[in-house]
Amino acid sequence: MTILVFGGNGQVGQELLRALAPLGTVVATTRSGQLPDGGCCEVADFDRPDSLPVLLDRLQPSIVVNAAAYTAVDRAEQDVAAAFRANAEAPGVIARWCAAHDVPLVHYSTDYVFDGQGNTPYREDEPTAPLGVYGSSKRGGEEAVRAAGGRHLIFRTAWVYAAHGTNFLRTMLRVGAARSELRVVADQVGTPTPAALIADVTAHALQHPGRLSGTWHLTANGQTSWHGFAEAIFAEALATGMMVEVPRVQAITSAEYPTPARRPAWSVLDNRRLQRDFSLQLPAWQDGLKRVMAEITGSSWST
Ligand SMILES: NC(=O)c1ccc[n+]([C@@H]2O[C@H](COP(=O)([O-])OP(=O)(O)OC[C@H]3O[C@@H](n4cnc5c(N)ncnc54)[C@H](OP(=O)(O)O)[C@@H]3O)[C@@H](O)[C@H]2O)c1
Repeated sequence: MTILVFGGNGQVGQELLRALAPLGTVVATTRSGQLPDGGCCEVADFDRPDSLPVLLDRLQPSIVVNAAAYTAVDRAEQDVAAAFRANAEAPGVIARWCAAHDVPLVHYSTDYVFDGQGNTPYREDEPTAPLGVYGSSKRGGEEAVRAAGGRHLIFRTAWVYAAHGTNFLRTMLRVGAARSELRVVADQVGTPTPAALIADVTAHALQHPGRLSGTWHLTANGQTSWHGFAEAIFAEALATGMMVEVPRVQAITSAEYPTPARRPAWSVLDNRRLQRDFSLQLPAWQDGLKRVMAEITGSSWST
């Protein structure tokens, strides 16, 4: 069985290559045809959605997992066409191929489809109202996948991080090693979610006998602010001996840290449906952090 993973060099994509390996032959794509370990893989460019059916016809996968996306939230505000091409048009092309060939498609979406004005965890069926181009383009991807009419698993996730890649945890550790004080936004609340957890849950869901189709919220449990996450990162860095001295983390408001794209203030996702439908117990975000920090300290940490 061939499992095709688009975006094999992203945070989630790299973890998928590990997590899906026991299920079949995993074939990865990247834009360059190179994997982070230097190995070669297939080429797929979401800037050219029309090129994707040719690749799919050649590979004839039994399962398709799309972890590729235009994820530069601020850049997307100026790069609207490219964001929609990669996040909505290309997933639509893939989803139509999958529907026509009766191949299940796993696709990832985001908490940024919501406007963040709530104060209780968002359920899957609540109305979406993205604040920016990234969220709008990801909502377009969800709609395209559903409209294709095939079996699909859309997992909305949030605040993704890993021991590799570009993410808040790695930025904090790098910047925190060089400064005695950091200013971090405290009025955006969400759930830090390890890429490995997303990949492991994906593997679990694909083995579920129910052949379910739909949209689920896939995050760790609990909630915190970026400020709370930063404090937890530095507490863990001290506890594991990764750092002997950590910076003071000053809480600031989003207004004090303006960015081109507006972000939802409250983006906690209600993940109970996923836990119920797939018989899962998701870990607390703090447990996820401990695991990723252990992975970093276990490997030779470098920024
Ligand atoms: N990161 C988050 O905090 C977050 C939060 C919520 C939801 N999500 C969703 O979770 C999924 C995985 O995100 P992630 O954090 O793993 O993202 P990531 O680390 O930024 O990786 C994105 C991947 O997409 C690829 N990609 C980007 N533009 C492409 C294009 N035009 N053609 C082909 N490939 C392209 C990248 O390849 P290159 O290396 O070549 O650029 C990379 O492999 C995405 O659907 C994302 O929207 C992420």
